Amino acid sequence: MAITTDETKANDDDQVYQKGVKNLCENGVTKVPKKYILPEFDRADIVLQVDLTMPNLKLPVIDFSELQGPNRSEVLKSLTSACEKYGFFQVVNHGIPNNVISSMIDVSARFFELPIEVRSKYVSSDLTAPVRYGTSFNQNKDRVFCWRDFLKLVCHPSQDVLVHWPSYPTDMRRLAVTYAKEIKNLFVMLMEAILESLGLWGATMNKTEEVEKLIKQFQDGSQQMVVNCYPPCPEPHLTLGMPPHSDYGFLTLLLQDDVEGLQIQYKEKWVAVQPLASSFVVNVGDHLEIFSNGKYRSVLHRVLVNPAKSRISVASLHSLPFNSMVSPSPSLINKANPRRYKETDFACFLEYISSFEPKRKNFLESRKLL
Ligand code: OGA
Ligand code: NI
Repeated sequence: MAITTDETKANDDDQVYQKGVKNLCENGVTKVPKKYILPEFDRADIVLQVDLTMPNLKLPVIDFSELQGPNRSEVLKSLTSACEKYGFFQVVNHGIPNNVISSMIDVSARFFELPIEVRSKYVSSDLTAPVRYGTSFNQNKDRVFCWRDFLKLVCHPSQDVLVHWPSYPTDMRRLAVTYAKEIKNLFVMLMEAILESLGLWGATMNKTEEVEKLIKQFQDGSQQMVVNCYPPCPEPHLTLGMPPHSDYGFLTLLLQDDVEGLQIQYKEKWVAVQPLASSFVVNVGDHLEIFSNGKYRSVLHRVLVNPAKSRISVASLHSLPFNSMVSPSPSLINKANPRRYKETDFACFLEYISSFEPKRKNFLESRKLL
């Protein structure tokens, strides 16, 4: 049977969409193509103005420098309440130099300015590839595409992966490695505090073998950086930069430029996270929800797009080493608080996302015991 012109056009269009939204914009798109238009139901709650019923919702701010001083126990309490109530907080005074942060944003933006032919060299359908350029959320599975292009960089083990990272812009590897190391250290120190906030060690209790082992595993654990680029969108009420999802690791540390876009689910509403200069947005991932046996929550979040401005963010996702099992901490389970999750590892997550359209919290739901 001969292919009809309509089908040929649809196939051609699909090939263009696979090249990403930045490319569409560079080619002068003025309307959101059908491929990106969410079903009515999924876009009913896209409100582009700040939600007037919740004007002042500010994420809890954790002053990292205070954690090292006499107020540590107060800060740990704020950390507990942030992880229970929001699953999110912002960290300030974290000690990572401003130039390391601004260089990471700057080189990320310059990567997406490279010609599409250069960026496309890193396209891969292998979910474990050390570097992967792509678009949407999962471009092999998504029926509706998202208004986002990304570059994923696996950061560990560095001696194996770095040679695969982009060689352009020529300073990308150097700047991204410096950033990756700094953010990893911050992650490990935050996890040390979070383990303390869960009561696993503290001022009156030395680190147990479990805690010592976990900290070593975090130092040597998996780390992936996702550089996200959200180009301006001509009809931002029709699509999303990222659909509602939760992150799989223990913590995600998110660096964003000064453009708003991230929203988190709070009391069944979407609330905007206002970017705070020189801070990181940190969120609890599925692995920490499982490890804490549900005490700390891995919360759904999504990204809106903007009619005027391009937005860059760099998410750094951290967990245990690739093959380690994550399960509820034995110290947090007892008769009153029975085990609520099955164990899981990274391989199990990858298998799940390659066989299902990743929607909402399916993976975490699949790990819940009845
Ligand atoms: C992510 C994410 C939010 C953002 O990369 O998992 O949720 O603002 N990013 O880019
Ligand atoms: Ni996320």
